[in-house]
Amino acid sequence: MYEKTFKMVRIMSKFPGIFQKIVYYFLQEKINYEAYYKNLQGKEGLEIGGPTQIFKKNNKLPIYPWLKSLDGCNFSENTVWHDRIEKGKLSYDYDNRRRGYQYICDAVDLKLIEDGKYDFLLASHVLEHIANPLKALHEWLRVVKEEGTILLIVPHKEATFDHQREVTTLSHLKEDFKNNVDEKDLTHLPEILKLHDYGLHNPTGDVESFRERSLHNYENRCLHQHVFDIDQLMKLFNHLQIEVITVDIILPHNLVILGQKTKKIPIKQLKKLI
Ligand SMILES: C[S@@+](CC[C@H](N)C(=O)[O-])C[C@H]1O[C@@H](n2cnc3c(N)ncnc32)[C@H](O)[C@@H]1O
Repeated sequence: MYEKTFKMVRIMSKFPGIFQKIVYYFLQEKINYEAYYKNLQGKEGLEIGGPTQIFKKNNKLPIYPWLKSLDGCNFSENTVWHDRIEKGKLSYDYDNRRRGYQYICDAVDLKLIEDGKYDFLLASHVLEHIANPLKALHEWLRVVKEEGTILLIVPHKEATFDHQREVTTLSHLKEDFKNNVDEKDLTHLPEILKLHDYGLHNPTGDVESFRERSLHNYENRCLHQHVFDIDQLMKLFNHLQIEVITVDIILPHNLVILGQKTKKIPIKQLKKLI
């Protein structure tokens, strides 16, 4: 459905500037703001891998100002995306000096956080960096209350340097979960090195240094371990019995999904489900 749009996005990504903005403006479909507001306004949540620009005031999905509170979680104090992260009370500065607790722990093992602590969980451009997404989602659902919500943003593969890669299937993710694949896994590296579109994205300047950086992925987490599209993301939610509330594409490449944890899934049963 979005084939032509994403082709245009890939072309336009080479021409940053006002013309690009105009093209995106005309290609952008209506975003279901009401659904996000209704489900997040006045609520207490956790964000993995934040803060996120798109959630700030005057950006395309400005949810931060609606929230009652937000804590943060990152895998390390040092990442390529943020200034040094300090763990602790009021260290998570997510929106114009609004602050929450900052956890330092891996998204696949939120052992510092009790079951059902939060109303909602946000993770923008995180899931694709995780080697075992079902393990992470299991944890994310655990820390969210019954009928709480999960809002994920992943890059739609067709709009990014991953467009030549195959979408990760649900059965692949189930297999990774069954085999307890850990975050050091580099199974996808040969595929990434071969199919990454260096014309669209060349973060290290040449293929050899990209390979070198990727070999240290456990330290930097830069790899897109998996790639997603709308169908696969919806299948993933259905599989976990997360009721999909809305799915939006926010150009140029954000695939946004908001879902509600259904009352019926007792946390202990989730493991069996996966
Ligand atoms: C691509 S950045 C996205 C930053 C921001 N959320 C955004 O959308 O612009 C990925 C973020 O997820 C964090 N991250 C990656 N893997 C993680 C993991 N396994 N556990 C916790 N955080 C992780 C990174 O450190 C970084 O903060």
